[in-house]
Amino acid sequence: MKAIGVFDSGLGGLTVVRELIRQLPYEDIVYFGDTARVPYGTKSRETIIRFSTEDILFLLKHDVKLICVACNTASSVALSAVKGHFKVPIVGVIAPGAKEAISATQNKRIGVLGTRSTVKSRAYDTQIKKLDPGAQVTAVACPLFVPFVEEDWLSGKVILEVARAYLKPLKDAKVDTVILGCTHYPLLKPVIKKVLGERVVLIDSARQVAGEVRKILAKGGQLNKKRASRRRFYVSDNPEGFSKLARRFLGKSAQNVMKVNNV
Ligand code: DGL
Repeated sequence: MKAIGVFDSGLGGLTVVRELIRQLPYEDIVYFGDTARVPYGTKSRETIIRFSTEDILFLLKHDVKLICVACNTASSVALSAVKGHFKVPIVGVIAPGAKEAISATQNKRIGVLGTRSTVKSRAYDTQIKKLDPGAQVTAVACPLFVPFVEEDWLSGKVILEVARAYLKPLKDAKVDTVILGCTHYPLLKPVIKKVLGERVVLIDSARQVAGEVRKILAKGGQLNKKRASRRRFYVSDNPEGFSKLARRFLGKSAQNVMKVNNV
């Protein structure tokens, strides 16, 4: 049986792999993290489309049955542009996250957190409005969140102050649901909860996208029947750094991390 391909700008996409493993423990996974070119969140649309196309072509060399775009930035900016060029199903994180937010909100006020490029693309706003034109979206770019997570600075005064500053527009807009629209943000759930309050629902796109992948594979009769799985991790730079940080995102260590020279 073929594997599921997953790509991200770096290691954040392992939050999606973690959910895929939880929901689909018997699927083989080929992961590509573009660690040589991370971050995508600050790059132009044209560059993100080029990188994403190359990432997809790399995964296709591994004969995958479905590609999951774990990166919110690539999903927001590149997915609609590249999807039609490939036969294999390509699933991004935007639609599943937006769908979940619409079903969770009671007051139709939804917050979106993401990188600068994700917010600029308005991909979440568009998707949410498609599902419910009456919904009100407040989107905020939180560029400092990614480095804080990678530095393992997940609690304490400094991150709390940063979160307070970023989340103020969401508090002012009285949102009751917030999409964590970046691979890294699920790790900041406790501090985000602390600022916004326990009652605000945080939507973790990783969980939703894994559910979507399961649905597509089940519908196409492509779920793996064997009771074993193989996971391979490829990066474009610094496999040691990837292995070291992987545990935080994946919940366990990533074995078999290989460096590729030409994506
Ligand atoms: N993976 C990116 C995302 O989910 C965050 C890191 C980056 O900017 O590349 O948007």
